Amino acid sequence: MSEILEPYLAMLNFKTGILKPFKKKVEVRLSDLKDFFSDQEAVNKILSKSKNPIIYEYYENSQPEVEGHLNFGITIINPGKIGKEYYLTRGHYHAKEGTAEVYVGLSGKGIMLLQKKDGQVTHLFMKKGVIAYVPPFWAHRTINIGKNKFCFLYIYFSDAGHDYEIIKQKGFAKLVIEERGRPKIIDNPKFTKY
Ligand code: F6R
Ligand code: ZN
Repeated sequence: MSEILEPYLAMLNFKTGILKPFKKKVEVRLSDLKDFFSDQEAVNKILSKSKNPIIYEYYENSQPEVEGHLNFGITIINPGKIGKEYYLTRGHYHAKEGTAEVYVGLSGKGIMLLQKKDGQVTHLFMKKGVIAYVPPFWAHRTINIGKNKFCFLYIYFSDAGHDYEIIKQKGFAKLVIEERGRPKIIDNPKFTKY
């Protein structure tokens, strides 16, 4: 049953990617992502120098976590690499796995990695104006492959929930690394099947 809310407006500044108002702001730093980057040595080296860069942040208008509502927000992934691997989001399955999501590219360049528990794997290239549809049952992670911030809008069901644990344990089947100055999608040597 949907909880009743009053209709409301939010403003997205297409130049800056700033969303106003937002109900939740989350900053994700390297220390929060230790287990999600593939090169643990590179992670530890940066953290040991007392550096803890913000990898990405998101600003969200979250609604009550009941059926029928939608959450929407903006994610901004900074440009950069840990070892050879580009800055990335944790990535997740929705806890309610049968829920889809829509991403709309606003600025910068990115790749969305997608995978299913039955072993299917794919990726989508994203930039300003690209709409990526994440069907139910597909885990999704976004990666900034450019030199500027990669920003996108996302919309998903507010009762979807997030399962990060399985990604933390097993990772994604593919990695996006820089090779000779260009992004390359390679098999993740540490990935084990479900
Ligand atoms: C919500 C969604 C996005 C991501 C955000 C951060 O279902 O897909 O809002 O939550 O881009 O990524 P994660 O949640 O993987 O850290
Ligand atoms: Zn999602």
